[in-house]
Amino acid sequence: MAAALPCLIFAATLMLASIKSSTASRMAKPGCRETCGNHTIPYPFGIGEGCFREGFDVSCENNSVYRHNSSSRIKIYNISLLGGQARVTTLIASKCFNETGGWAWLNTGKFFTISTKANKLTAVGCNTLAFLGGFNEHRVGAGCFSMCADKRSVDESDQCSGMGCCQTSIAPNLNFSNITFDDRFDNSEVSGFNPCSYAFVAEQDWFRFEASYLEDNKFKEKFKDGVPTLLDWVAGNEYCDEAVKNMSTYACISKNSRCITSPNATGYLCTCNNGFAGNPYLEEGCQDINECNFPDEYPCHGICSNIIGDYDCSCKSATQSADPKRKTCDPIAVSERARLTKMFAGISACAVLLLICIFALLIECQKRKLVKEKQLFFQQNGGLLLYDQIRSKQVDTVRIFTREELENATNNFDSSRELGRGGHGTVYKGILKDGRVVAIKRSKVMNMDQKDEFAQEMVILSQINHRNVVKLLGCCLEVEVPMLVYEWISNGTLFELMHGKNRRFPVSLDTRLRIAQESAEALAYLHSSASPPIVHGDVKSPNILLGDNYAAKVTDFGASRMLPTDEIQFMTMVQGTIGYLDPEYLQERQLTEKSDVYSFGVVLLELITMKFAIYSDSAGEKKNLASSFLLAMKENGL
Ligand SMILES: *[C@@H]1O[C@H](CO)[C@@H](O)[C@H](O)[C@H]1NC(C)=O
Ligand SMILES: *[C@@H]1O[C@H](CO)[C@@H](O)[C@H](O)[C@H]1NC(C)=O
Ligand SMILES: *[C@@H]1O[C@H](CO)[C@@H](O)[C@H](O)[C@H]1NC(C)=O
Ligand SMILES: *[C@@H]1O[C@H](CO)[C@@H](O)[C@H](O)[C@H]1NC(C)=O
Ligand SMILES: *[C@@H]1O[C@H](CO)[C@@H](O)[C@H](O)[C@H]1NC(C)=O
Ligand SMILES: *[C@@H]1O[C@H](CO)[C@@H](O)[C@H](O)[C@H]1NC(C)=O
Ligand SMILES: *[C@@H]1O[C@H](CO)[C@@H](O)[C@H](O)[C@H]1NC(C)=O
Ligand SMILES: *[C@@H]1O[C@H](CO)[C@@H](O)[C@H](O)[C@H]1NC(C)=O
Ligand SMILES: *[C@@H]1O[C@H](CO)[C@@H](O)[C@H](O)[C@H]1NC(C)=O
Repeated sequence: MAAALPCLIFAATLMLASIKSSTASRMAKPGCRETCGNHTIPYPFGIGEGCFREGFDVSCENNSVYRHNSSSRIKIYNISLLGGQARVTTLIASKCFNETGGWAWLNTGKFFTISTKANKLTAVGCNTLAFLGGFNEHRVGAGCFSMCADKRSVDESDQCSGMGCCQTSIAPNLNFSNITFDDRFDNSEVSGFNPCSYAFVAEQDWFRFEASYLEDNKFKEKFKDGVPTLLDWVAGNEYCDEAVKNMSTYACISKNSRCITSPNATGYLCTCNNGFAGNPYLEEGCQDINECNFPDEYPCHGICSNIIGDYDCSCKSATQSADPKRKTCDPIAVSERARLTKMFAGISACAVLLLICIFALLIECQKRKLVKEKQLFFQQNGGLLLYDQIRSKQVDTVRIFTREELENATNNFDSSRELGRGGHGTVYKGILKDGRVVAIKRSKVMNMDQKDEFAQEMVILSQINHRNVVKLLGCCLEVEVPMLVYEWISNGTLFELMHGKNRRFPVSLDTRLRIAQESAEALAYLHSSASPPIVHGDVKSPNILLGDNYAAKVTDFGASRMLPTDEIQFMTMVQGTIGYLDPEYLQERQLTEKSDVYSFGVVLLELITMKFAIYSDSAGEKKNLASSFLLAMKENGL
């Protein structure tokens, strides 16, 4: 029992499937006879009560299909359901020399007309005039005349040229025709080779004339069953918009069917919608087409999947891609797409590359501009001269720093790194990459002449190697104003030692004298040992730095060479160092070693007296230390 059940289900499924497939292919109404001999009879045609649409009843006799009429029978041997056509057999009208009359008529009945496109009125005979009288909405007619006086004048070709055979068109929409002969022409004169004439309406493409047809009985015997004639039929004589209004007579009853106007006759036909096939005149007649079963008609080179009324074609691999319009995975289309995609990708890649290039170019431009600027500054600041000197080993202790190095060392010239601001520029504390602490002096703006002098000065200074002179480590010429890098001196200036607020303990006279001696040695060295002699030009206690153990280090020398020479700036410079300045220099503006000596004298007085170069006396009056000293010397009141 348990084993039988699946079997039963399987059998039932098979049966259902077969029923389903048979209904799918059924053309006749359910329960009606579908075939007659070799012929399929599709609804609206049908045999028997309830099996046909009104006007389409047929019978099956001796395996042939006949259209019924009490007075006439038409043999149908081919029905085109969707084309609205039927191929029928019609009779031939004939008349022999010893007879009169002879006619053949055809009544197509309701919904059928003789196809004007497919058929021709044809007459076979010599001395024959055939007529067709018929009806559509009007009484219409047609006629053709064939003439051949003797056998030789018969056209031997298969053309109906009027010599043994003639053809003519017929009016459209004929539902009745009666073919007759004109009695004034008969075969009595040609009865020797052509005793009888024949006329018929038949498919033009079917008929081929043969000269032998003119002979006695040849034609009649060959076509005793009649000739093929194509009829057009319609489901109704209305147009679609009219027909759809009366659902009791509307023929297109299948789901997924629609009404079309017949192109060949007056009226409408039914057809299945796209993606469906079957009989639109039957309920459930239009069935979905499984397009995947017909790859020739519905090509899909990928994976085909049927959907109701349509199908999907998905492509097998990435190398294929669907052409949605054609629903194929056409490799040519794919390659074209791929090419386009590639091209597009290429174009976008190019565009991106171009953008990058432009960007890089802009950056490079900016860089070059910067480099050019730097080079310009370098040149302006006497860099070339210095560079030449360095190359020729005249200068080997000075290093040329880059702008970045100094910016990094001073934390971008942060104000917290500022050590002091003087007449010549600002001094910053800097820490180089290697950890060395340096003093960086940023000069004030200079003019072109001074810049060359500056470089010269650098060369000279770089050659000085004296323990009491602050060592110049290098310079930076890439900036608008040159910068100098000096060794770092830890204990401040002599000025701070003597007069500073945070003075911790009084400095002994010995120390002070040693500082004086060391400073003097430095100046002496500059004045006598250096070549050419270097004049400091601004000797004062703030310019004497103190290293470990208060070792004196003269700094900021050579500044005189960098001093502005025009009046106004000169005056500003004088303000800072008044009290130390040699009176002769003030008058002559000629800087000599003697100016330094005078200034150093003031420093000596400072060291001895611990007074400011310009000091206030007990009465609060400002006094010049040098003048006071000279006065005291004169009065012997030292
Ligand atoms: C059926 O068709 C075949 C070939 O198409 C033909 O030989 C045969 O005579 C036909 N039978 C009938 C009954 O029409
Ligand atoms: C059918 O065939 C029979 C015998 O062959 C014949 O007597 C009869 O007339 C035929 N019917 C038609 C309609 O041709
Ligand atoms: C048969 O034909 C005649 C005319 O020849 C027509 O009046 C009649 O309606 C037709 N009968 C049928 C059933 O079509
Ligand atoms: C019916 O007509 C179609 C095309 O017009 C043709 O292919 C087919 O063979 C015909 N069938 C018969 C039985 O004449
Ligand atoms: C109309 O006539 C033409 C030519 O005879 C034919 O091919 C076509 O199937 C007919 N019907 C329709 C609906 O086009
Ligand atoms: C006319 O002649 C043909 C043959 O010549 C013959 O078969 C036929 O019976 C004749 N018809 C009459 C009415 O004499
Ligand atoms: C033929 O058609 C016309 C117009 O369609 C109609 O008036 C006439 O009755 C029809 N004749 C036949 C015999 O069906
Ligand atoms: C056909 O025409 C002939 C001659 O005019 C006539 O005698 C015959 O009655 C007509 N037939 C029909 C059905 O009209
Ligand atoms: C629909 O057709 C039927 C049958 O031909 C007819 O009796 C009825 O009056 C028609 N109705 C309309 C609205 O045309």
